[in-house]
Amino acid sequence: MKAIVCMQYGPPEVLQLQEVEKPVPKDNEVLIKVFATAVNSGDCRLRRADPWAVRLFFGFTKPRYAILGGVFSGEIEAIGKNVSSYKVADQVFGSTGMSFGAYAAYKCLPEDGALSLKPKNISHEQAATIPFGGTTALHFLKKANIKPEQKVLIYGASGAVGSAAVQLAKHFGADVTAVCSTSNIELIKSLGADKVIDYKKEDFTSNGETYDVIFETVNKLSFANSIKSLKREGILILGATGLFGMLKGLWSKIASNRKVISGLISEKAEDIVFLKELIEKGYYKAVVDRSYPFEQMVEAHRYVEKGHKKGNVAISLI
Ligand SMILES: NC(=O)c1ccc[n+]([C@@H]2O[C@H](COP(=O)([O-])OP(=O)(O)OC[C@H]3O[C@@H](n4cnc5c(N)ncnc54)[C@H](OP(=O)(O)O)[C@@H]3O)[C@@H](O)[C@H]2O)c1
Repeated sequence: MKAIVCMQYGPPEVLQLQEVEKPVPKDNEVLIKVFATAVNSGDCRLRRADPWAVRLFFGFTKPRYAILGGVFSGEIEAIGKNVSSYKVADQVFGSTGMSFGAYAAYKCLPEDGALSLKPKNISHEQAATIPFGGTTALHFLKKANIKPEQKVLIYGASGAVGSAAVQLAKHFGADVTAVCSTSNIELIKSLGADKVIDYKKEDFTSNGETYDVIFETVNKLSFANSIKSLKREGILILGATGLFGMLKGLWSKIASNRKVISGLISEKAEDIVFLKELIEKGYYKAVVDRSYPFEQMVEAHRYVEKGHKKGNVAISLI
């Protein structure tokens, strides 16, 4: 089968299209023919081992899993003999979790992995872009126990996590203020934000407004600035991933005696199902900036790592 293989850490050019062996499902697994995947910010950080501590978890000298890619949408081609929740030809989407491997024509996953039937009303390319930002935003907003009428500020609203957080916070009934740059204002309004602040023109931390929840999705704000606009009992979510994000969260919590939520998320089937249902009811949209053919994975990585994508970047295998 065709796959994009990453045999060393480095720039986008380390990604190479190769023929590799097609996987065979175990008794409890489904074999998914991948129709689409996506390039997420996390894929770029893993590819270039940034921060360096990535090597401690994913391989010291080279990536332990040569095939990257954490999200997919496709069709079940075969099932193991103990699989009962899915059948051949089911259209599914989801996340591969820490086994990666979605930059390939086929991927095996346990039937109880983070997957679900695909929403019927969107394409495979759109579906593949849902799990990364969607499950991350859902995890943190649920942890913050977000409630109707609460004032919630989403910082970095135009990224994968931010555009998901705006939609989910609105769905949970919050009054949502989104912070993004000028060129993304119309997009973010279309996702339902009640108010949009252009960070290029206005510093939200000095306008006197305070919030019940501030969700910092892009790790660009200083902690001191973030809590200036947080209500005394408010919750600060630091969505940035990794060891440093967790340490920053822990330090911030201790130093300020404020409620700070951070840490790594793990994708769950129930969250994928939740997102599927929201999409089918019309309450949640896929935000796709660009789509690239599989053969242009290097170009897709170059674009994503610039850090200015609007929502998500999809990759088509068909
Ligand atoms: N905790 C976890 O387990 C977990 C899981 C997934 C992701 N994450 C982390 O979440 C973070 C966000 O990921 P992502 O995929 O959503 O990022 P992304 O899509 O790559 O973010 C790109 C967006 O960030 C905006 N941006 C850039 N600089 C900004 C600034 N100074 N102020 C406000 N917005 C700015 C850009 O808009 P403009 O170009 O218009 O500024 C662009 O739309 C990453 O650090 C990722 O590692 C954590």
